Amino acid sequence: MKHLTVAVTGASGALYAQRLLYYLDASPEVARIHLVISALGATVIREELLLPVTGVRQSDVESLLGRPSAKTTLLPAKDVGAAIASGSYPCDGMVIVPCSMGSLGYIAAGIARDLIHRAADVMLKERRTLILVPRETPFNAIHLENMLRVERAGALILPACPGFYHRPQSILELVDHLVFRIMAHLGVPHPTETVWQGRRSSAGTAPDDATN
Ligand SMILES: Cc1cc2nc3c(=O)[nH]c(=O)nc-3n(C[C@H](O)[C@H](O)[C@H](O)COP(=O)(O)O)c2cc1C
Repeated sequence: MKHLTVAVTGASGALYAQRLLYYLDASPEVARIHLVISALGATVIREELLLPVTGVRQSDVESLLGRPSAKTTLLPAKDVGAAIASGSYPCDGMVIVPCSMGSLGYIAAGIARDLIHRAADVMLKERRTLILVPRETPFNAIHLENMLRVERAGALILPACPGFYHRPQSILELVDHLVFRIMAHLGVPHPTETVWQGRRSSAGTAPDDATN
């Protein structure tokens, strides 16, 4: 039974966070989810999902899930005294989805501006699973260097680059491809319809190696 942290920062792609929360909250393998939403993360959620999310109220969880949750707790990003800010608190994995270039930069520099950056810093120092899902295009040299820096410190860079080999028929199917990749790296079982099972047809343009 895993204890996980999900952080949402102010990059485009709030739907990735909403779908991940939906699956993690429903998973019997997950005992507890700490949700942290930055101020700009809340802004982007309101912009992209049209939900009344503030980043500071537990009602955000209900807005994102469409129902209350006893498993997912909203922690204000300013609360750097929360349990997940300490390495003594057992947290099995943390995902920042989507991860802005701003938050990536703070984490790469080791600066704990808020609870998201502090909790990420803790995951790295405790050698625990930290997954960053950056969303920006194109990347400049600073973005690329920061990603290499955090990867070398132990984070997993899992960019918001969904695959197409499961032939998605909707945006949700496309988004879920990425969400299931995140869940796989968290060690949480997920639906398997997006898992590459080998070629179904020799027709079309599917590449020989579409396993990533
Ligand atoms: C609507 C909107 C979309 C944005 N999209 C991105 C994005 O895709 N990637 C990114 O790195 N920053 C994006 N930004 C800029 C970040 O929100 C900004 O750098 C912010 O300071 C990040 O702070 P945070 O990491 O604490 O959330 C966006 C901002 C807004 C308002």
